[in-house]
Amino acid sequence: MQIRKYIYPLVLSGLIVCTACEDEGLDVLDVEVPEGFALSAGTSTNFLTSSKAYDQESSWITGKYLNRFNEGDALYDDVRTSSNGQGGGLGPVYAGYSCGSCHLNAGRTRPTLWTEGGSGSSGFSSMLVYITRRNGAFFRNYGRVLHDQAIYGVEPEGKLKVEWRYETFEFPDGETYELAAPTYTITEWYADSIRPEDLFCTVRIPLRHVGMGQMMAIDTREIEALAAKSNYPEYGISGRCNYITEKGVTGVGLSGNKAQHLDLTVELGFSSDMGVTNSRYPEEICEGQAQVDQGSMMGLSYDQLDVSTEEMEDVDLYMQSLSVPARRNVNDPQVQRGEQMFYQAKCHLCHTVTLHTRPRGSTLLNGTQLTWLGSQTIHPYSDFLLHDMGSEIMDVGLNDNYVSGLARGNEWRTTPLWGIGLQEVVNGHTYFLHDGRARNFVEAIMWHGGEGEASKNLFKNMSKEDRDALVAFLRSL
Ligand code: HEC
Ligand code: HEC
Repeated sequence: MQIRKYIYPLVLSGLIVCTACEDEGLDVLDVEVPEGFALSAGTSTNFLTSSKAYDQESSWITGKYLNRFNEGDALYDDVRTSSNGQGGGLGPVYAGYSCGSCHLNAGRTRPTLWTEGGSGSSGFSSMLVYITRRNGAFFRNYGRVLHDQAIYGVEPEGKLKVEWRYETFEFPDGETYELAAPTYTITEWYADSIRPEDLFCTVRIPLRHVGMGQMMAIDTREIEALAAKSNYPEYGISGRCNYITEKGVTGVGLSGNKAQHLDLTVELGFSSDMGVTNSRYPEEICEGQAQVDQGSMMGLSYDQLDVSTEEMEDVDLYMQSLSVPARRNVNDPQVQRGEQMFYQAKCHLCHTVTLHTRPRGSTLLNGTQLTWLGSQTIHPYSDFLLHDMGSEIMDVGLNDNYVSGLARGNEWRTTPLWGIGLQEVVNGHTYFLHDGRARNFVEAIMWHGGEGEASKNLFKNMSKEDRDALVAFLRSL
């Protein structure tokens, strides 16, 4: 087992007590936190085990920062309406009606892919559908994202349908597991019908907001060093960075399922996911599309920006100041066995246990530095690098044929696993992977192919007891 260093274990043990008194009604762990063990994010760790575990400010958020955090939190969950002005601006076409509609409790809303077989039917979907032509170009009448919802009087751009293909597999010890591979089709195109042979379509369920500030504060030189040395030919593993240019700056992409963004994409979230215009994206997303030209949206005014720059900065502050839940049940022998199994199966070669943040912390959109996030030892369980995850399993693997920056169709950013064990409590489901196809932990692991193949097979060949222990360990994260 690795030896871990924590910077402020004692300070934090003091804080547990305070959190417990303040948050009446929230489940706070009453076990003693072993020194230097469970603190996932140094001074930004919380000890909640309730549905609010992802949605709690770090203890260093006080005074004017607390006001701005609360403003940001409220805006994040604010259900936009179709009117103009404050709180309005939704659509005309959109995918979700608030950040929180997709990221419930700062987590992952239950996928309508599973509950409704694709697009949601009640004015809401919990996913993003990216579409392009086979040659990578965008469709004039649709743009990059399929907006499968629309305000009253306007047609959604189209509707997503998913069909699941099931196959049963066997572990060497005879226990079976089933995988479900999705096939996506889009129906009810509002304008040109796009032939399936011309279409690339990829679906993403939301990511958990655990550790957004820490992610933005990571010393990217550490990530680049990992890419340079993350080369384990004996296990077929070699990660690489996704270099991205955004707003005139080139850097190591950290956020998004393909590490395709440099920041937390607040402006893009408002514009592209909700149709809420802002200083960075002043035009409606459907500008220039057939529906606008045909005049069916006459009467709507587009002159005014729907959300102010200051409001977006508050949302950015809110996300970057969220605390990370501490690990739980760390003294349970099964969990400890599972942790050994995690290393034995080489999961840690991609799901890197320990990283460090740069001394000055993270920088918000408005240039404010969150120095509290500086010089912290963190446990994200990710290298934030791209890995080829294979195209073989059930003839498709995790390959979505969609290119994002340097990331090819079969390449994905290692998903940080911190907080994953609480997803069921926070969001009421255990759907995992970029499109939510895995229904539980075992399926998520068994979809690992490509660079993850050797690691997956090490898990597959374990005894049932050890596989169960590894899953118990994931639940403790
Ligand atoms: C329609 C659903 C939907 C809405 C609405 C939405 N998101 Fe997301 N969000 C997603 C999906 C899906 C992803 C993953 C995208 C990807 O990787 O391509 C994501 C990713 C993110 C990420 C990256 C997280 C990470 O771990 O890298 C951030 C940050 C984020 N969203 C913030 C926001 C904010 C802020 C808003 C509101 C302004 C918002 N989102 C609105 C669905 C949504
Ligand atoms: C080669 C690098 C690599 C290795 C080795 C690896 N993973 Fe992953 N893991 C990834 C990537 C990349 C993803 C994201 C794939 C996607 O979303 O399609 C992922 C996703 C996951 C997820 C789903 C996370 C979520 O919230 O959706 C779990 C759980 C997981 N891995 C557990 C494990 C375990 C356990 C092992 C060891 C048996 C392991 N991984 C080994 C790279 C790796």
